Amino acid sequence: MTTGTAAIDAVLRRFFVDRRAEADAIGPGFAAAVAELECYVLRGGKRVRPTFAWLGWIGAGGDETGPTAGAVRQTCAALELLHASALIHDDIIDASPTRRGYPAAHMTFAEQHRTRNWSGNAESFGRGTAILTGDLAQGWADDMIRSADLPADAHERVGPVWSAMRTEVLAGQLLDLTAEAGSDEEVDSALRVNRYKTAAYTVERPLHIGAAIAGAGVGLVAAYRAFGVDIGIAFQLRDDLLGVFGDPALTGKPSGDDLREGKRTVLLATALRHADDRDPDAAKFLRAKIGTDISADELRALRGIITDVGAVDHVERDIVRRTERALGALEASGATAHGRRQLAAMAVSATQRRR
Ligand code: IPE
Ligand code: IPE
Ligand code: MG
Ligand code: MG
Repeated sequence: MTTGTAAIDAVLRRFFVDRRAEADAIGPGFAAAVAELECYVLRGGKRVRPTFAWLGWIGAGGDETGPTAGAVRQTCAALELLHASALIHDDIIDASPTRRGYPAAHMTFAEQHRTRNWSGNAESFGRGTAILTGDLAQGWADDMIRSADLPADAHERVGPVWSAMRTEVLAGQLLDLTAEAGSDEEVDSALRVNRYKTAAYTVERPLHIGAAIAGAGVGLVAAYRAFGVDIGIAFQLRDDLLGVFGDPALTGKPSGDDLREGKRTVLLATALRHADDRDPDAAKFLRAKIGTDISADELRALRGIITDVGAVDHVERDIVRRTERALGALEASGATAHGRRQLAAMAVSATQRRR
């Protein structure tokens, strides 16, 4: 997306090379899971979170040619390991078979079980192995942060932000589950889920971490966080649209799965609210189909309803509104001109993406 993703990948690659001997010594079952995690982390992903953290640091005056740049990159790369953990667990929770155009981790492990003719149930082996691999990614993300060679005062500032972010993403995932189980139709609940399950760990806290490393003042941190909440929510609103209308060849995730799964997105809540006002039969059809095994024809019909009742336009306008507000906060912030320019470009690419 912008500068630095190759450098982030290099940190991640190095980290896995360093872990290999330890994994081999523990045993082949563990080494195989670690190899799969390495492959999972390195073969795809837009690197949005490390990029925001890096730019947060740059915007707060960080010097990319200075002596701490390597340690900052390592701190940023840890976000990608935490993200891998969230994705691996998310695909189990959501029963999603595909991620980044490849089988989800639990599917890969189940397939390994089948190929080897192992005893027991392949699916439960796949899920169990993926849960543990996701836990490992989370633990290693913590290790990566702790071992980054930052000055002690920077570590002290980053620690509480990292902790808050870890809690927030798990809280968001829990809110998402309870909203789905309770068939929650409120737009505000869906927005709260977005704020915690996505915005916090994708934009708001990564920027905060970058600012904390640089020792930024409260004004810049507040501006970054305001920007981060808006762009983070807009990022997830785009994800919701891609989840229903996206091209699987680009997103790497099946289209329509959010509806099959019964995910309580802002898009769905908005569609239900509009349909209740404008087209009660459409509202009834939406409520009857959401969370069921939707056929291709039904998916077409649902897409038509969501568009015709004005939900797509509404969400698109909300993305624009949030992006403009975020850009205003950024412009008024004390971030460096170089940082502001790159963050503005990221705001657009994160919210107008097709993948
Ligand atoms: C997917 O995040 C999960 C969400 C929070 C929406 P990304 O869209 O950043 O996924 P990758 O890392 O690029 O695959
Ligand atoms: C993913 O949310 C959020 C986290 C991984 C924390 P979703 O379930 O909405 O995202 P996708 O569509 O599977 O990527
Ligand atoms: Mg999911
Ligand atoms: Mg989910």
